[in-house]
Amino acid sequence: MLRVAVIGSGPSGCYTAQSLVQQDPQVRVDVLDRLPCPYGLVRYGVAPDHEKIKSLQNNLRGVLEHERVRFLGGVPVGPGGVPVARLRELYHAVVYCVGAATDRRLGIPGEDLPGSWSATEFVAWYSAHPDTVQDGFLRGVRSAVVIGVGNVAVDVTRMLARGVTELAPTDMPHAALNALAASRVTLVHMVGRRGPSQARFTTKELRELGTLPDTAVAVDPAESALDPAYTDPSALPAPQRRNVEVLRGWAGGTAEPGARRLIRLRFFLRPAELIARGGRVGAVRFERTAPDGHGGITGTGRFEEIEAQLVLRSVGYRGVPLEGVPFDAAGGTVPHLAGRVLRGGTVAPGEYVAGWIKRGPTGVIGTNRSCAKETVTSLLQDAALFRDRDLPGDPLTALRAEGIEPVGWKGWQAIERAEAHLGASLGRSTVKLPDWDTLLAAARGAGA
Ligand SMILES: Cc1cc2nc3c(=O)[nH]c(=O)nc-3n(C[C@H](O)[C@H](O)[C@H](O)COP(=O)(O)OP(=O)(O)OC[C@H]3O[C@@H](n4cnc5c(N)ncnc54)[C@H](O)[C@@H]3O)c2cc1C
Ligand SMILES: NC(=O)c1ccc[n+]([C@@H]2O[C@H](COP(=O)([O-])OP(=O)(O)OC[C@H]3O[C@@H](n4cnc5c(N)ncnc54)[C@H](OP(=O)(O)O)[C@@H]3O)[C@@H](O)[C@H]2O)c1
Repeated sequence: MLRVAVIGSGPSGCYTAQSLVQQDPQVRVDVLDRLPCPYGLVRYGVAPDHEKIKSLQNNLRGVLEHERVRFLGGVPVGPGGVPVARLRELYHAVVYCVGAATDRRLGIPGEDLPGSWSATEFVAWYSAHPDTVQDGFLRGVRSAVVIGVGNVAVDVTRMLARGVTELAPTDMPHAALNALAASRVTLVHMVGRRGPSQARFTTKELRELGTLPDTAVAVDPAESALDPAYTDPSALPAPQRRNVEVLRGWAGGTAEPGARRLIRLRFFLRPAELIARGGRVGAVRFERTAPDGHGGITGTGRFEEIEAQLVLRSVGYRGVPLEGVPFDAAGGTVPHLAGRVLRGGTVAPGEYVAGWIKRGPTGVIGTNRSCAKETVTSLLQDAALFRDRDLPGDPLTALRAEGIEPVGWKGWQAIERAEAHLGASLGRSTVKLPDWDTLLAAARGAGA
């Protein structure tokens, strides 16, 4: 048997495990995750109101229930958990699929003022990630600025504008639902530093903003027209052209007479500073930019302030180094050649990488499937180099002997039952458990 450890049970980890068992009948895969719950950002990132995408968890479940795949949750790899070097002794090969857990920084004054959060933190809160900071995002907030115009920016903007009627049927944690129900946010500005034709969101996600009940959407046509492709989108590739067409349809505002909330899409504004008022963020100062003719922007030296008591910085995720694994600090990724980890520029047989920590934090769930396939192809091509190495026995026995008691599949299923039970007790469907204690109590109650 070829024994492989996959670190991370998000899409890239699950697709790696799937590809391995499909291509090699002699492989056994342990999928380790620091969380007691599987599926990575599909559980803890995809917005709760996107139930169809969330249901992809059912496909990933099939992988983790495969007879030659084992889920070992609650096992952090690195400091405080299992060192990478130990895993390399216990398995023939290790595949790092740890995603990109943190946010990119803006590097501007005021970024850390109270009331300024990364989208990563806000997403973690409404997704019930057990590491989340506690509530308080929406207290005293009437207007919000979302910096960035990617799909995560659209997600957090939409969540700020969604009503409780639409959110109650989701699995979002009860405290977040209550906070959103009590929200007094009536104005959300979503702000891009470049033009409408360079926005990173996809048209389906953009369009959805125009369908939110009791919410109007506005685009300033004069500001958008700084982008020549806004006035004449005919030469744009189809995805960008569709975005521009939707935005042009909203110029001047969507027809939502008497709407309680307004989403304003702003362009050519580069964040310069977060301004404090009363000890917390009160406004964002932006510099007006202009297109440089090559897809970039230049500053104009003119500034504008937008009032906001909440700022969500949605300018991309970032990979974090895993102790004992090479790391390219510039890109926030693990250096690799077709998924083979490079140590000091040369291939390290037996170590592989897939997903966001391999490619950087872009791409949808499906992108990780082909990415994982490439990695598995490399691993299986190399397997003759390491598959005959004697191992100390079943890695799970070794981990237990070292005091590590993973949450197994039964433990995860017990968490699912506890979430269904919690939902029923609240008159909702499934409701996620939001903290480590309740998750681990539910899992351990099942004998893990
Ligand atoms: C907010 C948000 C919303 C998104 N919504 C969509 C969407 O609607 N549709 C879509 O197609 N795509 C969406 N995406 C993109 C999609 O989620 C990613 O493409 C995908 O999750 C990347 O997969 P991954 O396995 O590389 O990383 P992740 O999904 O992040 O999985 C990494 C896993 O590794 C684990 N891990 C990390 N460090 C360690 C460690 N040291 N030890 C053990 N385990 C560890 C983590 O706990 C996690 O489970 C979204 C992304 C974000 C950020
Ligand atoms: N429903 C979905 O399918 C869905 C939902 C969520 C996420 N995702 C995917 O997940 C991935 C990550 O999404 P994301 O939104 O985090 O990243 P993203 O698509 O890379 O968007 C990041 C945004 O931040 C802006 N930005 C970066 N640095 C900035 C700075 N210093 N100042 C101002 N703006 C800055 C970027 O502008 P520039 O372009 O000018 O750099 C861009 O608008 C994407 O592939 C996305 O499609 C998909």
